Amino acid sequence: MVVFITGASAGFGRAIAKRFAQDGHKIIALARRKERLESLQEEIQECFIIPCDVCDRKGLEHHLAFLPQDYQNIDVLVNNAGLALGLEGADKCDFADWVQMIEVNIKALTSVTHLVLPQMVERRSGHIVTLGSIAGKYPYPGGNVYGASKAFVRQFALNLRADLAGTCVRVTDIQPGLSSDSEFSLVRFKGDVQKVESLYKNSNALKPEDIAEAVYWVTTLPKHININTLELMPTSQSFAPLNVWRED
Ligand SMILES: NC(=O)c1ccc[n+]([C@@H]2O[C@H](COP(=O)([O-])OP(=O)(O)OC[C@H]3O[C@@H](n4cnc5c(N)ncnc54)[C@H](OP(=O)(O)O)[C@@H]3O)[C@@H](O)[C@H]2O)c1
Repeated sequence: MVVFITGASAGFGRAIAKRFAQDGHKIIALARRKERLESLQEEIQECFIIPCDVCDRKGLEHHLAFLPQDYQNIDVLVNNAGLALGLEGADKCDFADWVQMIEVNIKALTSVTHLVLPQMVERRSGHIVTLGSIAGKYPYPGGNVYGASKAFVRQFALNLRADLAGTCVRVTDIQPGLSSDSEFSLVRFKGDVQKVESLYKNSNALKPEDIAEAVYWVTTLPKHININTLELMPTSQSFAPLNVWRED
């Protein structure tokens, strides 16, 4: 298969690339950091890199128009590039952070999907995977725009399923919970390593390889099976009671 992964320079995306490469699949790896993509390319067998901002629609169009012959038929698109910025309450957030999350998590994800989907429908074969999050389903303080962007992703994936009836193209939204060993929290906390360490301390969180295994599983099931949504958490993570604020 040809597997196109956005955000393949780090974290989940990189692990997903390695998981598919391990079984001989061809990888198209997109991210902004070219040197990281080059190091991935050195690690795995067949990998074509696209050093590009996923928000750059013109750049994407150009790169996809000039894919090498044997990378042109994309079998799996993994819409993984995404980010959270900040964990402050909504009244204290930087608006630019909100805009960036909307640009990458929503606008760019729809842009890549819009570019890749027609060829899948034409071939009556393909799989769109989105990286949602439990944050798209369960509200939490400071989740504001990040969680809302992942709720968009979940509903977009389900609506794609509705539109793609009869096309044989599959769609799956993967919704991970707490996951360590990626750059996600370092980005969210803007380089504050102490905050990152205290978040994951003794948590036994999910790892990028766990997410990669989930993506690999849903996309290699027999063609008549479509996993619509897949929510996974570390066993250590569960639910807290609803919050009731009381007057003194
Ligand atoms: N880690 C978690 O706890 C968690 C839980 C649930 C869901 N998720 C979701 O899973 C996905 C991957 O997260 P992760 O933990 O692997 O995070 P990560 O380690 O920070 O990786 C994010 C990837 O996205 C790329 N990216 C970010 N902005 C981009 C842009 N404008 N253009 C192109 N590429 C861009 C980054 O590459 P460059 O910086 O090189 O561009 C990087 O490869 C995200 O959608 C995230 O929301 C994460």
